[in-house]
Amino acid sequence: MKRQITLFVVLVSFALILSACGNAGESSGLEPVPSDYAGITNPFVGDAETIAAGQVIYASRCASCHGETGMGDGPASASLDPKPSRLGDAVKEAGADYLYWRIAEGGIQSPFNSSMPAHKSVLSQDEIWQVVTFLQSME
Ligand code: HEC
Repeated sequence: MKRQITLFVVLVSFALILSACGNAGESSGLEPVPSDYAGITNPFVGDAETIAAGQVIYASRCASCHGETGMGDGPASASLDPKPSRLGDAVKEAGADYLYWRIAEGGIQSPFNSSMPAHKSVLSQDEIWQVVTFLQSME
């Protein structure tokens, strides 16, 4: 009986360690959101009007690289290194603050060093949130 309990404790500890590693692995794909952006929340509620406004911005400013459906296969993508991301992956894994940050600041800074343009000077805060709302509606 004592052996069984010991075995049980060992197995449970093992499972806990494994799940902790799993969580660490999940977040390792994405860079941490800097404190200026961490935790900011979307003022829009995902209504049809906001999504439509975001879609118009996406079509004119994002689709050339990220592709019409966010697969990273826009006409300009072929010549880019690194390639534009498949946005569905980021939308699934990241919070709205991450998406806002990446759209606002682009990929000019390390560790991205990419051609992803910063949009904070060309789009208003509301416009960036509209795009975020559109991206989240694409799932
Ligand atoms: C000139 C091409 C280009 C344009 C235009 C562009 N992007 Fe990007 N984008 C990239 C590239 C390349 C990456 C991958 C490298 C990186 O993360 O910086 C990227 C990364 C991203 C990421 C991070 C994805 C992740 O998995 O971490 C998001 C979110 C994003 N773009 C959204 C947008 C949105 C929204 C627009 C339009 C407002 C846009 N991009 C316009 C090239 C572009």
